[in-house]
Amino acid sequence: MKVSFKDAARLLASGGVVAVPTETVYGLAARADNPRAIARIFKIKGRPADNPLIVHVANLKQMQPLVKSIPEHISKIKKFWPGPLTVVMPANKTSVPGIVRAGLSTVALRIPAHPLFLKLLKITGPLAAPSANPSGYPSPTSAAHVLADYKNALPVLDGGQALHGVESTVIFFDNSGEWQILRAGAISSEMLAKELGPPKNNHNKKRPAVCAPGMKYRHYAPQAKLVLVSRHNKKLFLKTPTGTTSSQNRTLVIGFDDTKSIFPVLSLGKRTNPRTHLRRLYALLRKADALGYKKVLVDMDFGTNGLGDTLRERLFRASKLTKLH
Ligand code: TXA
Ligand code: MG
Repeated sequence: MKVSFKDAARLLASGGVVAVPTETVYGLAARADNPRAIARIFKIKGRPADNPLIVHVANLKQMQPLVKSIPEHISKIKKFWPGPLTVVMPANKTSVPGIVRAGLSTVALRIPAHPLFLKLLKITGPLAAPSANPSGYPSPTSAAHVLADYKNALPVLDGGQALHGVESTVIFFDNSGEWQILRAGAISSEMLAKELGPPKNNHNKKRPAVCAPGMKYRHYAPQAKLVLVSRHNKKLFLKTPTGTTSSQNRTLVIGFDDTKSIFPVLSLGKRTNPRTHLRRLYALLRKADALGYKKVLVDMDFGTNGLGDTLRERLFRASKLTKLH
């Protein structure tokens, strides 16, 4: 059920779990210093215990006691805070319970930009919050998504539609001060490289030594089967289905304003606007399920920039595919 700001603050202060709006996606929040409340988050989401949570703070002052040290290069990227950037730092283990960190010696931290969430954090102190979706499903980008996912049973603070519609970018600095992206997100690698220089992955093509534990799980997947369609295989959108009309009724295309298909098309917007694609993607995957489609063809003609990488990464993982049709 929806709750007022006051009730959300009260519930969190007394060890409750509340779904909260952020500028990326809705989160499922509890006080970061309350292991019992955090355990409820894992239970509600069905989240594997080895997947650590992001801790959200209102400012650097709230962040300081949670870490051993703040990486030196943070000064160059502070301009992304408040905003969709998460930095993994050495944890102060006495102030961040092990359950939040999934037993790691690091903690992931973010100063979010949503005004209501920031206001809440100033009252409650640090809040741990994963995306509010049941584990594996696309993240919620509106209060209505959260209410639907948990059959109206969770308290939700409604902060409108999420601005970015996709999760924060998670980065890490190694001992020599080099940085790498652990999870692509709303801030592109180009935006970060402009401030920090090229990431470590660019020097050597090996897999990063450190990974976000969450990356090994299937994520963002709707009930419908996803088929990712490359620019070279657009005929799939036009092929007459071999089955009956009912198979045609059960197939949908997620594409752009100008995608042509014999199937109904839900549009991510103009082909040239990756910010709009990110904002709409999860909502459209959810809509495909809500409308009862069994198969979704996705037009994968995204740009070759960092935000295109984020979109491709999410869709590859949602479809469990490793290459395009
Ligand atoms: O935008 C976001 O980041 C949203 C909003 C609610 O802030 N949160 C979010 O949380 O996406 P979640 O739990 O769905 O994803 C967090 C990711 C996971 O892949 C997790 O493994 C990784 O961050 N992570 C968390 N703590 C980490 C750590 N100490 N080291 C490496 N990766 C970490
Ligand atoms: Mg998530």
